[in-house]
Order: sequence, then structure tokens, then C-alpha cells
Amino acid sequence: LGGGPLAGRHVIVTSGPTHEPIDPVRYIANRSSGAQGTALARALRDLGARVTFVTGPAAVPAPGGVEVVRVETAVEMLAAVEAALPANAVICAAAVADWRVANAAGSKMKKDGSGKAPALDFAENPDILATVAQRNKGRPGLVVGFAAETDDVVAHATAKRARKKCDWIVANDVRPATGIMGGTENAVTLITESGAEEWPRLPKDEVARRLATRIAGALGAGG
Ligand code: C5P
Repeated sequence: LGGGPLAGRHVIVTSGPTHEPIDPVRYIANRSSGAQGTALARALRDLGARVTFVTGPAAVPAPGGVEVVRVETAVEMLAAVEAALPANAVICAAAVADWRVANAAGSKMKKDGSGKAPALDFAENPDILATVAQRNKGRPGLVVGFAAETDDVVAHATAKRARKKCDWIVANDVRPATGIMGGTENAVTLITESGAEEWPRLPKDEVARRLATRIAGALGAGG
């Protein structure tokens, strides 16, 4: 049997972008690579956790030694997370699309020769983090979200923590000048019930290791 401070603990990590179909061959997506979520899943695994890794179509390969559940859309991601419960912790690192196409076509859309462009209608996607954090029955002991902000990072992330009712928010400053988006380093502020903790700028792998250690501390000894 594996050891480590998270032995016997089940942690669900969401990661990557979601793809929201327009028709069977087209979709709306975002630029998330899945790098930070993947690093976090690896770090949690290394501390002995059983990890369910629910990932959208990411650019980086999924880690080994975890249960990988591949999804495309936000609706599928929520269903996969709920199917993987119960868990001791859920870490929502995915860049979930806020909207899906409400009038997605069942067959490939074609130009009809009229010169008129099609119109897309949007519907709001479920908020996976808020849904898990606000479960009445079987709420995981620790629910963690991420927040990419470009200004007033602490104020916005603190408000997000309160609004979604998660336990922690890992906030980062993604102004282009920081070079963090798409880069190998991250500068995060951890928002918890006791306030904001600014971490130094570190490689994403090291941010993941420190977060995993904090998660292990919050969950107590495994067993
Ligand atoms: O509100 P915002 O999108 O900035 O919140 C980001 C956090 O919420 C991330 O942890 C992200 O994974 C989560 N989220 C989610 N489902 C959504 C939107 C965001 O789980 N539909």
C-alpha cells in the first residue's frame, strides 16, 4: 500500500479548457493548456492521494498514476465530477467555458448562398466549483478554486471565494506584462478563511507542490 500524507484520501482535480460544440465539427474553446492542473494532480499523487483527474481537451499530457476522465463540455465535466464523488477534496483548476451554444446544430452548418451569416445563441454553463461547494449532502471537506485576475487580485478573489462558497481561492495576476499566461512560472495569492497570503514567483511545478502540501495539511493525516 502506498504511503504519504494523502494516503487513503480521494482528491478530484478538474483541468484544461472545455470545448463547446457549434455543430458536429466546430466548437468554441479557450487557450488553457492544463499545465497548472496537471502539475497539481501529479503533486497530489506524489503525496499518496488517489486522484481523479477530470480533464477537458488539454495541450499537455495527463499524468500517470491517476484516474483520467476525459470530457469535452462543461456539462460533461460537472457530470464527471459528480460521478466521481465522494471525495475529501475537489480542486477546480479547469478553465470552464462560461457559455455554451444553445442552438448547436445536429449536422454540419452550411453556407446557403444567401450571404447571411448564422447567429449563435448562448446559454450559461453550470458553475462546477460553486455547485460542488454548495452541496448540502456530501460536500467535500475542502473545495478549492482558481481565479485569474488582471486587477485588484485580492479584492476580486476574496469576493469570488464568498460568492462561490469555496474554501480557498488560488488567485493569480494574469496581466500580459507578468508573462504568466502560457509561461512556466506562476505568482499566486492564496485566499483562505484567514486572509490573503502572497507567495513568491515560482515554477508552476513548485506552486503545485506547495499547494499539495497545504491540502495535505488541511485534510489531516491519511488513513
Ligand atoms: O468565475 P471564474 O470563472 O473566474 O472562477 C474561476 C474558478 O471557477 C475556477 O476554479 C474554475 O475552475 C471554476 N469554474 C467552474 N465552472 C465554471 C466556471 C468556473 O468550475 N462554469
